[in-house]
Amino acid sequence: MKVTVVGAGAVGASCAEYIAIKNFVSEVVLLDIKENFAEGKAMDLMQTSSLNGFDTKITGCTNDYSKTANSDIAVITSGIPRKPGMTREELIGINAGIVKTVSTQLLEYSPNVILIIVSNPMDTMTYLTHKVTGIPKNRIIGMGGALDSARFKYRLAEALECPVSDIDGMVIGGHSDKGMIPLTRLATRNSVRVSESINSERLDQVLNDTKVGGATLTSMLGTSAWYAPGAAVSSLVHAIACDQKKIFPCSVYLDGEYGLKDICIGVPVVLGENGIEKIVEIDLSENEKAALSESATAVNTTNSLLADLN
Ligand code: 2OP
Repeated sequence: MKVTVVGAGAVGASCAEYIAIKNFVSEVVLLDIKENFAEGKAMDLMQTSSLNGFDTKITGCTNDYSKTANSDIAVITSGIPRKPGMTREELIGINAGIVKTVSTQLLEYSPNVILIIVSNPMDTMTYLTHKVTGIPKNRIIGMGGALDSARFKYRLAEALECPVSDIDGMVIGGHSDKGMIPLTRLATRNSVRVSESINSERLDQVLNDTKVGGATLTSMLGTSAWYAPGAAVSSLVHAIACDQKKIFPCSVYLDGEYGLKDICIGVPVVLGENGIEKIVEIDLSENEKAALSESATAVNTTNSLLADLN
């Protein structure tokens, strides 16, 4: 199993590190446009292999897509990250061109590759990848919901003062501060609805803290986060590489599911060896349906900016 990670910045390197530490693929190729940068990150990571006990071979290359040939999965993290005060949507002008070039070049060398899109604005970059590549929709997956759900679970565990392993919860909708929909109604602590243990005021705070999870870290760190995004990507790669058939909320192309068409937005899917094995349609409440529709309108507005860029 060969995985390529495009972009050896903080998110890409952390993603490669988590994949390697979990030791389930034979090879990870890191690619970056900056001379020797990916090679250096790969070498540094390889020097942790005896300490961290993995056999995954990590190599780096400078913009040489021939080195990515025959990848089974490729992760696109390239582009510019957010700076404090910026929205993910503001990155579209620069990142659209990058994602277009990167996805085309990856497919040239790995025609059957499954693509995972991380670059922001993520839902629009996932949509763009569909339009540019035309590959089957099960092979294009936007990473946002897995990260947002991890942040949601962290906030719920904090509010409940319990181990995060007790918590189950999911965030659907667009990967944006306003578009995320943490499904507080369905979240549980060991099968008990969290609403039974947290009052609605505290639950609202959890919801809001989750939605601004990325922005909070960007203002603290001066750039966007990397550990949780890297870990979230590695979980998706793991589910695909090991055909786990696990459910994650991911940004996927919808063709009528959830009443939405011609859009990529976060909904629960089953991930396995074919990428998206199934889109899972859950019963949403009227409020959640309205929130998803509003989130979709915002994603469509960002998508419409792509036409101006062309
Ligand atoms: C985040 O939310 C990078 O969009 C990513 O941290």
